[in-house]
Amino acid sequence: MKRFIIKGPNKAIKGEVNISGAKNSCLPLMAASILFKNKVTLKNVPFVKDVLTMKNLLVSLGATVDISESKKMITIINKKNHKLIVPYNLVSTMRAGVLTMGPLLARYPKKKIKVALGGGCALGVRDTNWHLAGFRSLGAKNNLDRGYVNISTKNGLIGSKFKFPKVTVTGTSNLIMASIFVKGVHYIKNISIEPEVIDLINFLNHSGADIKFLGKRSIKITGVKELINGKHNIIGDRIEAFSYLCVGVATNGKIKVKKINPTHLRAEINILKKIGCKISVNENSIILSSAKKLKPIKIKTGPWPSFATDNMPIILAVLTKVLGKSQIEETIFSNRFMAAPELNRMGALIRIKKNNAIIIGQKELKAADCISSDLRTTFSIILGAIAAEGESKIARVYHGLRGYYKLETKLRKIGIKIVSKN
Ligand code: EPU
Repeated sequence: MKRFIIKGPNKAIKGEVNISGAKNSCLPLMAASILFKNKVTLKNVPFVKDVLTMKNLLVSLGATVDISESKKMITIINKKNHKLIVPYNLVSTMRAGVLTMGPLLARYPKKKIKVALGGGCALGVRDTNWHLAGFRSLGAKNNLDRGYVNISTKNGLIGSKFKFPKVTVTGTSNLIMASIFVKGVHYIKNISIEPEVIDLINFLNHSGADIKFLGKRSIKITGVKELINGKHNIIGDRIEAFSYLCVGVATNGKIKVKKINPTHLRAEINILKKIGCKISVNENSIILSSAKKLKPIKIKTGPWPSFATDNMPIILAVLTKVLGKSQIEETIFSNRFMAAPELNRMGALIRIKKNNAIIIGQKELKAADCISSDLRTTFSIILGAIAAEGESKIARVYHGLRGYYKLETKLRKIGIKIVSKN
């Protein structure tokens, strides 16, 4: 298994990073290809592990998928009758596999669809009860049998009304995709408006769907007969962009991230400014210059437009060296501070109480051997290692490769002393 070895402290890093397409846009867009009888072409694809797992899932359902990593492009053809089983091995390694439920239901409303339930994950319990409640609002019944949910309807999918009890990102995408060919009109309230969900809505509308916003978090979907011309350029990955900006902060350096829409990181840019960084933005890039002396801060995560939960472990690592007392409240997941014990092994002082972290900034961190337990934790530990004195070894970095394209290469290019060993 691959390990990263990082020699720190890396100081005053200067450089530019090209940000890849957003993994969390790419995965629902790939699932949405099931709605099309003709070819779907996606550009700016990040060829990370989760994208390859989604490709395998689509192939197992009967799709033909061609990938060109050099062109950052995927083409998907879903002409044939699909197998209507989403197997456990693919959903358990990548929760986003549940995103195939909605489009399969839309395309085969009168057949039985069988989808493995993913179970929990490192971030805590991750239920799909609101996805299923959404499908029920369209007339689709479901029952659980040996870890698989069976979904079917008697008379096809019929428009009505649904309100999500709390904001869910993939739940929103799933219900939108399920509603595309609905009989009549489906109204959905309290939807997620993360940039990746908006990217999916834009793609579907450009392909002939009829999704209209009635308010900030409510939409009206009028069923259409078919989708055509499935072509889309995936938005830049805001989590990857923030991660590299934080390399600039952690090393008191200057970083430019390119191919990213700065408005997707509004809350995060505000926080970076508040701790003392200088930030300037252009249409598709962000430049950060870190200050020598940074200020502690209070942060609360939340659905977009609030500070993203995925960016929380990243800022957590940065705050370990900001003198004074910082505080983070995590409101989305029950177990999202897995980076804390690893950073504490480097001399950080983070105390966790339920969904709150208190961080007492330290002058120095010391290298340590750490183990990563999920995607964003990997980058958090990398940031700790970059700032720490000495050589840190990070195990199980395969978690990071699920979502960060060319992680090692991009870090090395901006001057981080990183090597990988098996
Ligand atoms: N929830 C339920 N029932 C549901 C759905 C969600 O209780 O039916 C709960 C979850 O357990 C969680 C909260 O609602 O506590 C929010 O979960 P959400 O459904 O929004 O998360 P998700 O759609 O499964 C996506 C991203 C995650 C990101 C979250 C929150 C994808 C493929 N995944 O997950 O990304 O953290 O939204 O923004 O889009 C990552 O990329 O590292 C990652 C984990």
